[in-house]
Amino acid sequence: MEIRIVPLPDDRKKPKYTDESQLGFGKLFTDRMFMVEWKIGQGWVDARIEPYAPFVLDPACSVLHYAQEIFEGLKAYKWADGTITLFRPEMNARRFNHSADRLCMPEVPEELFLDGIEKLVALERDWIPSSEGTSLYIRPTMIGVEPVLGVKPADHYYFYVILSPVGAYYSAGFNPIKIMVEDHYVRSVPGGTGEAKTGGNYACSLKAGLEAKKKGYDQVLWLDGVERRYIEEVGAMNMLFAYGKTIVTSPLTGTILNGVTRDSTLKLAASLGYAIEERLIDVNELMADIRSGKVTEAFGSGTAAVISPVGVLTYKDEVCTVGNGGVGPITQQLYDTLTGIQTGKVPDTFGW
Ligand code: COI
Repeated sequence: MEIRIVPLPDDRKKPKYTDESQLGFGKLFTDRMFMVEWKIGQGWVDARIEPYAPFVLDPACSVLHYAQEIFEGLKAYKWADGTITLFRPEMNARRFNHSADRLCMPEVPEELFLDGIEKLVALERDWIPSSEGTSLYIRPTMIGVEPVLGVKPADHYYFYVILSPVGAYYSAGFNPIKIMVEDHYVRSVPGGTGEAKTGGNYACSLKAGLEAKKKGYDQVLWLDGVERRYIEEVGAMNMLFAYGKTIVTSPLTGTILNGVTRDSTLKLAASLGYAIEERLIDVNELMADIRSGKVTEAFGSGTAAVISPVGVLTYKDEVCTVGNGGVGPITQQLYDTLTGIQTGKVPDTFGW
């Protein structure tokens, strides 16, 4: 499909950031966005890259009432030789369409998803930061925009992509964070939307997150919604635990997100000689294993979070320090290797 380029007038260009170390996460957006619409009876129409601007939305539209929304997160990197790369974007295209199916939204052809992102990133290349720990975060999103109050799939959608130059997701940077295991609220149940990347999953996580923050924690770790016994995910990242040379993580049971960074980390860890176990993790056993020192490291994986060391895990008021509470050697090695591949400093033997 042809993508129209709408000119960007000089007076619509934003001032660029001056200090890459102050970027934070998702606060600043570039000059342009990609946009395409789906209309019933017509399919995808009018793909264009246009100046970044607010939408005019009908107050009755589907996304505002019944949360028909899905999104993705991926990153572009600027290598030392000036090459711009995307990391495994076809995985995001596939997951996006998996989410679309769950929310009864139209599939975005993979080629259109990738072409829109590639052309947009190429036009916005001057916005890509290049210092250690920075990248251009890409946020593809789809919303239902039909003005109708009946509960049904919309007949009109916007698929759009915005870009944000970012640093670390957590203000701590690559330093251990504190996580609280949530034993009251749940994120997801079998048959629900836990595996889809949809805004509602994040909206319903806010209350638990705020309560954890008041107690001094960075985020909550969700348990399964039925038995409240098995470790699931952290919302912004999947969780992995090092038992010596074995990396253990929760299986993809349909209630957690199939993370691109999770998959990459597991493949990378296997290639570095670690054993991988995808299995149900009982929270009581996990806490006992942290206490006894069997669990030597804990870390999260996510596009925004990259690989984030976890120094403290708390469950029902029992506060457990993982290892010595610092950044463990496996976490460091996986972080260095993964970010090295993403930024062109370590050879990519995976074709990512
Ligand atoms: C990502 O890692 O890209 C995500 O979508 C997580 C988000 C909550 C920041």
